[in-house]
Amino acid sequence: MVMRPEPWGEALDAPHGVRGRHGEVPHLLVPAPGGVPFTQAMAQELATQPWLAFACGRYEGIDERVIEHAETVMPVTVVSLGDYVLNGGEVAVLAIVEAIARLVPGVIGNADSLVEESHEDGLLEYPMFTKPPLWRGYGIPDVLLSGHHGQIARWRRDERLRRTALRRPDMIAAAGPIRPGRSGPRGAR
Ligand SMILES: C[S@@+](CC[C@H](N)C(=O)[O-])C[C@H]1O[C@@H](n2cnc3c(N)ncnc32)[C@H](O)[C@@H]1O
Repeated sequence: MVMRPEPWGEALDAPHGVRGRHGEVPHLLVPAPGGVPFTQAMAQELATQPWLAFACGRYEGIDERVIEHAETVMPVTVVSLGDYVLNGGEVAVLAIVEAIARLVPGVIGNADSLVEESHEDGLLEYPMFTKPPLWRGYGIPDVLLSGHHGQIARWRRDERLRRTALRRPDMIAAAGPIRPGRSGPRGAR
């Protein structure tokens, strides 16, 4: 069962639906397992855009002509959350909106916390620890308690590389060779 084009066309034509007061249009995101993979880089780009709209499909998806027509009116990206099939686009859009919204200035109180996160520069984040220093017999790496900022930075960089190589070798391969003067893929610090 495929969603028919007429109601989708009317929804996308609606003057107060996806047309601004001065004729502005949003960037339309259409979640679909056959879309381009949603990435942190895409989230960063979309976080700079003034207006996004989402067209969530159900059943086998939306009649392709809806997307073809929408592309003549507004930017459209068909986007996949991953290589699996959900029942509907709503859950995908929740995840996409959350990934984008947290990059909009002011949404996260401490902007510094966005800088070293997984996928920001092609590596995963290093392991995290907090108090207490001993929990159920598990300690924290000594270097993190040393107060030595240089050694802590070095440990974090090594752990990012180790974790990425272990869990996401595809990301290491995609990063390419280490460039002279840089300490890791794409200048990871
Ligand atoms: C059952 S799926 C349709 C699958 C489609 N027939 C195909 O094989 O590509 C129904 C809806 O769920 C959403 N959906 C399913 N998997 C998704 C994914 N990996 N990423 C984004 N949206 C997805 C889309 O909105 C899609 O229109």
